Amino acid sequence: LKVRDILINGDDSLIGQRVTVKGWTRTIRSQKTFSFIEINDGSSLGGLQVVADAEKVCDYEAVLSKIHTGAALGVVGVIKASPGKGQKYEVAAESVEVVGGCDPEAYPLQKKRHTLEFLRGIAHLRPRTNTLAAVARVRSALAFATHKFFQEQGFYYLQSPIITASDCEGAGEMFRVTTLPGKVSELPRVEGEEDRIDYSQDFFGAPAYLTVSGQLSGEAYACAMGDVYTFGPTFRAENSQTTRHLAEFNMIEPEMAFADLQDNMRNAEAYVKAIVRHVLKECEEDLAFFEKFYDKTLMARLKTLVSESFARVEYTEAVRLLQEEIAKDRGAWQFPDVDFGTDLQTEHERWLCEKKFQRATFVYNYPREIKAFYMRDNEDGKTVAAMDLLVPGVGELIGGSQREERLGRLEAKLEEFGLDKEDYWWYLDLRRFGSVPHSGYGLGFERLVCYVTGVENIREAIAFPRTPGSATF
Ligand code: 4AD
Ligand code: MG
Repeated sequence: LKVRDILINGDDSLIGQRVTVKGWTRTIRSQKTFSFIEINDGSSLGGLQVVADAEKVCDYEAVLSKIHTGAALGVVGVIKASPGKGQKYEVAAESVEVVGGCDPEAYPLQKKRHTLEFLRGIAHLRPRTNTLAAVARVRSALAFATHKFFQEQGFYYLQSPIITASDCEGAGEMFRVTTLPGKVSELPRVEGEEDRIDYSQDFFGAPAYLTVSGQLSGEAYACAMGDVYTFGPTFRAENSQTTRHLAEFNMIEPEMAFADLQDNMRNAEAYVKAIVRHVLKECEEDLAFFEKFYDKTLMARLKTLVSESFARVEYTEAVRLLQEEIAKDRGAWQFPDVDFGTDLQTEHERWLCEKKFQRATFVYNYPREIKAFYMRDNEDGKTVAAMDLLVPGVGELIGGSQREERLGRLEAKLEEFGLDKEDYWWYLDLRRFGSVPHSGYGLGFERLVCYVTGVENIREAIAFPRTPGSATF
C-alpha cells in the first residue's frame, strides 16, 4: 500500500487490515519498550506513523539501532486508529526490515527546513523533501492531463526529433551536436563518402543541433493528419540567468490544420483550463501545501483561471494601454518605454495580466519584425497573426501563431530575415504540395508548473535543471 492510500484516500474499513508499506524514514523516536517511526514513500506530504513495540517486533534493539532519518524500510503491520494528534491511522508493526541504512552524520537532509537554493546543490536527494515531491506529483498530473486533453480532442501524439538541422525560431540559439573524438575512429564509414564527411565534426554529414522547438515537424504531420501535438524536451543556448529560463525545458506543441489564429487561441484556452481543472481535482493536498508555504493567492488564481474567459487584446492596443499607464504613473512599475515595435518585457507583460486585466491574457497581432519568420503576415502589412498567452505571476506561458502557408510570401520572408532558403527546402515543400491554413502554439511546461504551484524559480519546476554554467546531475 502507498502511504497516500492510507493517509489521504483511506477510511475506517482499513482498520484491522494487515499491510506492507515501503519507504524512507523521516523521523524516529526510540524508547526502550516501543518506538515511533514516521515513514514516507513520496506519495503524500505526511508521513505514516509506524509504532514498533519491543515485544512484537523481533530483533527489536538490533533493528532499531539501524534506523535513522533517510533509511529505507519495509514494514509489515496492522492498521489501527491513531490515538495521537495529526493522523487518523497508524500502523502497529509486526516486522520492520531495514532495506538500506543511512548514516545520519553524512546524510545532508536534516529535519529542519532547508533553503531551495541549498536543495539545488543536492538535486538527487531533494525529491525526498515535501516541496520537490509535491512539485513532481503536480507535474506528473499536468502531463497526464495534457495527453488526456489532446487525445480526447482527437489529436495524435507526435514525437519530434531532438537532433535536427533546422533552426525553428531562426534565433541562432542552438546547441551543436558533435561526437567524442575518441569514438569516431570506430564508426563505420559510408563508402564513397569518406572525403565528404568529417565525422569528428559532422556525424550527420552536415551540422546538426539540439532542437529549439518541435514545431516544424509538427507542421509536416498536421499537414497530413489534421491535428497533432508534441510533448518533449527542447533546448536553448540563451545566456540568460533568470527565474524563467532553462537551457533544457519541455514544451507542449499542438499544431492544427485548417485552423486560424482564433481557433488557435480557443484551443489554447480550453487546454490550459482543462489541465488546471484536473489538478484542482486530483492534487488538492499538494495545492493546499503550496498555497500555505509559497503563494497565498494560489487557489483564488487557479479558480479564476478555470471560471473566467481569458482576456484578448491586440498588441497595438496593449502598447497604447501601457503608454497611458506610463504617462500616468511610471513609478510603481518602473518599466521601460514602449512603442509599436517594442518586444514587450516581462514587466510589461505582468502589468497587462496582473494589473490591467487581472487574469490570463492573450496578446495578438504582433509587429512582424519582432516575431519569427514562419508567422503569417496580416493584411495591414505591419503585423503577423501571432499570439502570446500571459498569466499572472509568470508572464509569457504560451507563444504561438497562424503559420505562413503562402509559398511566395514565405520565401520572401526567409530572405528578408536573412535565412537560407536551401536550409528550409522541405518546409517550403509543405507550401508547394497541398498547402492549408494551419496554426499552433508552444506551452512551456516548466513555466506552467511554476504557475500552478506558485514556486517562483523555474529551477524547482524540473527535476534536474540545466542553466548556463550548471548541468551537474
Ligand atoms: O515563444 P516560443 O519561443 O515559441 C516557440 O518555440 C514556437 N515554435 C512554439 C510553437 O508555435 N509551436 O516558446 C514557447 C514557450 C514560451 O512561451 C515559454 O513558455 C517557453 O516556451 N520557453 C521557455 N521555457 C523555459 N526556458 C526557456 N529558455 C524558454 N524559452 C521558451
Ligand atoms: Mg515567445
